[in-house]
Amino acid sequence: MATSVTMASGSLLQQMIFTCLSIMFTLLLFAASIGSASPIRVPNLQQCELAMDASVSLPLMTLTLNCCLPIPPQSPRHFSFHKYKSEPRVRQAAHTVSDAYIAKYTRAYELMKALPDDDPRSFHTQAKIHCAFCNFAYRQAGNASVPLQVHFSWLFLPWHRWYLYWHERILQSLLGDPTFALVFWNWDDQRDGGNVMPAMFVPNGTALYDRNRNQNNLPPTLVKLRPNTTGNDSAVVNQNLNDMYQDVVTATTAELFMGGAYRTGTDLTNATVINAPLGGLLENGVHNGIHFWTGNSDLPLIQDMGTFTTAARDPIFYAHHSNVDRLWDKWKYNLPGGPRADHNDTDFLKAKFYFYDENARLVKVKVRDALDNSKLGISYPTVAADELWVNYNPPVMSIGSAVAVARAAGVATMGAAPQNGTIFLGSNLSAIVKNPSSLPPTTAKATVLIIQGLQVTRKSFMSLSAFINLPFADALTDTSSAEYIGTFNIIPTANVKHRHLITNVMFEIGDNMRRIGISHEHEAVITMVVTGVEPVSIEGLLIDYA
Ligand code: C2O
Repeated sequence: MATSVTMASGSLLQQMIFTCLSIMFTLLLFAASIGSASPIRVPNLQQCELAMDASVSLPLMTLTLNCCLPIPPQSPRHFSFHKYKSEPRVRQAAHTVSDAYIAKYTRAYELMKALPDDDPRSFHTQAKIHCAFCNFAYRQAGNASVPLQVHFSWLFLPWHRWYLYWHERILQSLLGDPTFALVFWNWDDQRDGGNVMPAMFVPNGTALYDRNRNQNNLPPTLVKLRPNTTGNDSAVVNQNLNDMYQDVVTATTAELFMGGAYRTGTDLTNATVINAPLGGLLENGVHNGIHFWTGNSDLPLIQDMGTFTTAARDPIFYAHHSNVDRLWDKWKYNLPGGPRADHNDTDFLKAKFYFYDENARLVKVKVRDALDNSKLGISYPTVAADELWVNYNPPVMSIGSAVAVARAAGVATMGAAPQNGTIFLGSNLSAIVKNPSSLPPTTAKATVLIIQGLQVTRKSFMSLSAFINLPFADALTDTSSAEYIGTFNIIPTANVKHRHLITNVMFEIGDNMRRIGISHEHEAVITMVVTGVEPVSIEGLLIDYA
């Protein structure tokens, strides 16, 4: 009797264990299927969509919206470090190179611009590559209803690294010099001469010149890393330093810095709060800021640099992105607190892109092979002025928590999505948001503000700056203080079919709260200041640990 009872409960136990195991197995399979089964693949280049005409009315200027890429007759090659050997080369700061280097650089672009337009190596086609993958000329492989986009997500940094790599290889082969390297525009340098438009790109009539730039921003005008930064030069410098500090130094996680997941099926224009893509702080902040600053703001889409269709028609684009690329390395290896980690999701590592090599052949590349610049032969010198933003110490403007004052002034509370519908932001909006204020989980690397489900029509440039504990902040508020948490900039698109954007926006606020002394408050006041003419709405606000 006793034996049979034992046996019965034994088999019950076995059954339970079996059931548990099979549930776990199913869960694992499910996790694997959402976690690693849908990296972005190379698109079908035969199916190219002509971007629709934006019927640009003011000033008379028509955009060429055909971003379709030439298809070489040979079959695409697969990249390998063995097939594509690279000479070690150093990318130097544009404001530090010699006249001889500038002459060579100019010669390289003359040669590239002299190639026929339909040559994959021509400057014309090089610029089209950016337009094609940034203005929805192709559809995602495996999900033809969704257009492909390499901005607003974790694809941004590796795609642009590869883009520069092939662009530079073509310039090398045209010059017959495999050690030739692009320069970087050191716009983050607020002390040693990097924060103006580099002189080598300024003279009219050279191959490095572009007439579609903001003529008010020629040297010696200082760069503004945030479109609405105002004040005298020293105020601009401090605000630039704080933008770098907020976008790079306190962006401690890969998601904050590089952006979030983008897999086959992710749709920028048709997303919900749950699956909306997430651009990184480097991209949405200072990177977009420089695009805006450089483009001609008298033109409807701030051409050339101010919109993706035309940005890469300006040779300064490649120097701008060299600096973005340098800052990725800086973030990874050279900030206090030790090395920081890229994403390691297999959908990130296995994502694939097309580029052209120096022999005009298509190459397939993977994100995984772009993660280590030294393998690609690329290095950057140490920049002494980095220390100014790495060690920037934003002053605190406010005293104690501003929640009570804000509440007395009628500021309402706002929670996470779903709220009762969409909230229109107008030119500025303050809200009281719940702060978890408990002990963060030991794995937490950051405290983040998530602006959920931000929706905008990308007809013109739009910018959202956010503040904490400064309920009366407006468009004129100085952004050098600890209350400033960052700016999200949207670059307009000429493609009228894909102008609608839904995205989440994340800012690190733990460092700001510590400096202000409000980490343990149960609520915080968040203020969003919006500039631009398009209506902007959000679906909720959430403070959480990451
Ligand atoms: Cu593809 Cu700076 O943008």
